[in-house]
Amino acid sequence: MKNTVLTFKKAKEEGTKISMLTAYDYSTASLMDAAGVNAILVGDSLGNVMLGYEDTVSVTMEDMIHHGAAVARGAKNAMVVIDMPFMSYQTSVYDAVVNAGRLMKEGRANAVKLEGGVAVAPQIKAIVDAGIPVVGHIGLTPQSINAFGGHKVQGKTIEAAKKLLEDAKAVEAAGAFSVVIEGVPAALAKLVTEKLSIPTIGIGAGSDCDGQVLVYQDMLGMYSDFTPKFVKKFANVGEVMKGAFAQYIEEINNGTFPTQEHCYSIDPMIIEKIIKEEQ
Ligand code: KIV
Repeated sequence: MKNTVLTFKKAKEEGTKISMLTAYDYSTASLMDAAGVNAILVGDSLGNVMLGYEDTVSVTMEDMIHHGAAVARGAKNAMVVIDMPFMSYQTSVYDAVVNAGRLMKEGRANAVKLEGGVAVAPQIKAIVDAGIPVVGHIGLTPQSINAFGGHKVQGKTIEAAKKLLEDAKAVEAAGAFSVVIEGVPAALAKLVTEKLSIPTIGIGAGSDCDGQVLVYQDMLGMYSDFTPKFVKKFANVGEVMKGAFAQYIEEINNGTFPTQEHCYSIDPMIIEKIIKEEQ
């Protein structure tokens, strides 16, 4: 059955956990969907893990639409959430609604996600009023790393912790149906989770959030440029891939690939005839 905003609401009410993973292409989304993940996030982390940028700042609406539509084709039951890229919503409420609409129409999203709390509450409200479900994102919001001075854990001082709670409440009041909490102390994420009636999805925010999200290349050991403390490697697919690539190269070089079983046959008479004609 298709996961929707109602799945998220029910999970919060019943205290069952929500699973979310990032994906950026059809094949990966299909595998995650078959595994039964509740939601797939087409994160702007695609800037790092798919496009090789050092941050998410350069990701465009076209990037998000291109990858989002591929994921949507593979996600039969998982809810597809597409990230609004940097400067697609911060500039104005109008831009936010227009760009959220594009992610729904062209990217085939079921919901959009945007970063920020109190500062973007008007944008969240306007997008929700347009009939588009919104996931908030607070704490260590990667689009603001230049303002933070790097990937710094957020909410560690009394002022910062209060600000996080204020941001969470603003996102909820603006109409978001869920909020991602990234890179904050576990005890603070627990407090925020208890204070909200919408589900929290944690990443580097401890086990008391209502759900969890990870970047799939991180959890499969496929991306080693930067591995945050909160990442658990559920498999070492990166090593498996490297091993398979190396074996492929070796088998081409030593002639053990391809063999007869990988070849198409033809009546030998045809080849003989052509050879004679060529002489
Ligand atoms: O872009 C992304 O992958 C995200 C997750 C880290 C939550 O926003």
